[in-house]
Amino acid sequence: MSTLLEIENDAIRLPPPPRTPRTLRVALAGCGTVGGELVRLLHHGAAEIRARHGVRVRLVRVLVAHRGRPRPAELDPALLTTDLDAFLAEDADVVVEAIGGVDPALRIARTALGRGRRLVTANKALIAAHGPELALLARRHRGRLDFESAVAGGIPVIRALRDSLGLTGIARVRGILNGTTNFILTRLDEGWRYADALADAQARGFAEANPARDLSGEDATDKLRILAWLAFGIRPDALVLRRRGIDPDPERLAADARLLGGAARLVAESVETESGVVAAVEPVIVPLAGPLGRTRGEENVVLIESRSNGGITLSGPGAGGGPTASSLLADLVRGAGRLARPAAEPPVPVNDTREHRWALSVVRTIHAAGVLDRTLARAGVPTSTVLADGDRRVAVTEPVGWQRIDLALRVLGAELLAPVVSRVEVSV
Ligand SMILES: NC(=O)c1ccc[n+]([C@@H]2O[C@H](COP(=O)([O-])OP(=O)(O)OC[C@H]3O[C@@H](n4cnc5c(N)ncnc54)[C@H](OP(=O)(O)O)[C@@H]3O)[C@@H](O)[C@H]2O)c1
Repeated sequence: MSTLLEIENDAIRLPPPPRTPRTLRVALAGCGTVGGELVRLLHHGAAEIRARHGVRVRLVRVLVAHRGRPRPAELDPALLTTDLDAFLAEDADVVVEAIGGVDPALRIARTALGRGRRLVTANKALIAAHGPELALLARRHRGRLDFESAVAGGIPVIRALRDSLGLTGIARVRGILNGTTNFILTRLDEGWRYADALADAQARGFAEANPARDLSGEDATDKLRILAWLAFGIRPDALVLRRRGIDPDPERLAADARLLGGAARLVAESVETESGVVAAVEPVIVPLAGPLGRTRGEENVVLIESRSNGGITLSGPGAGGGPTASSLLADLVRGAGRLARPAAEPPVPVNDTREHRWALSVVRTIHAAGVLDRTLARAGVPTSTVLADGDRRVAVTEPVGWQRIDLALRVLGAELLAPVVSRVEVSV
């Protein structure tokens, strides 16, 4: 056990939580959508938490950026501070981080864990970038790091991977990890225009004012890096990952899926193959009746295939203040499970060379269809089916690796055809 990776892999197996005191002093960083909901849950659920878990949770300090913003009526205003140093100096048993981003979240996390405290966070960006370092810090100082709410909001997927499933050897983790894009794609399935679907998602609080990280697949990428870390023991930043979002033309993506008899979904997947672990976040045309096609609106779903235990499917609300705060609360009062993976040598991350069928669609101009066909032929990509619908032409390929498609796209892109590409998992 001498290499950094081995030490850090080992560090995923965190020590059991320190004995929970009867009164749990909690310092909360961030009181927005998630933090505010946690304040309400703690207030209204105090009696039940005491009865079921034997602890009295007492908020001792709440860090925010702006003093004047409206806060939940349940929050004692005297607890609010905008002074980071005063917050860090607070004597708390658990620090809950619900700010987001890396700065100052990383400083808060390092300080809490370096003092042997428990840190509970909803922050996927922080864990995707610094998870192994923070897990190691927790282990060294006998603190504890929990981040159930960072992936798939209210679905206990981290617990599933850390607990029993982690012992059985994971073969594949796959799912829909971004509620915003799933909500939009479902609306497009129903015939909505993209602009209206996005506006609806924003009005319902499922999409931020700037949804770029959701649409581009970056948000799902952070979450997949965390799941692959727990499933395979690969450092989140070392995973070799292909990322394509639902931008720039979600309407065409949904129309292509309809034409092929399936549903377009932004699928995040990491699989252990014979050569190593591959990963991708990309649009996939999936069967309507399967677990991914049936996942609609802001819901998330995670399928975990274990080598000896078959597969399980976890689904539920992927985001939103309520579900996310309830996962924070579960970490807060219980501590999470322990284990990620047996101590075996972790597999290596490798490029994804698996073969799939792909749908490439172009808008037909005088010459576009011919260019699409010629380019695929020149890149050595056999086409099995070509469908036309209105002004679109959709070519479905035989199974080939992404590298061939990428080559074809470079040529097509150069000719400004802006093809939309999805992986195809329906029979055409
Ligand atoms: N919203 C969801 O559905 C959801 C789901 C899963 C995970 N998460 C994660 O939960 C975390 C919080 O998300 P959110 O939606 O609750 O965000 P939010 O509504 O924007 O709230 C962020 C909070 O952090 C405070 N804050 C921001 N920068 C700060 C700084 N430099 N110093 C001190 N306080 C600062 C803000 O203070 P002010 O209020 O004073 O501005 C606000 O109270 C993120 O990591 C996010 O990825 C969110």
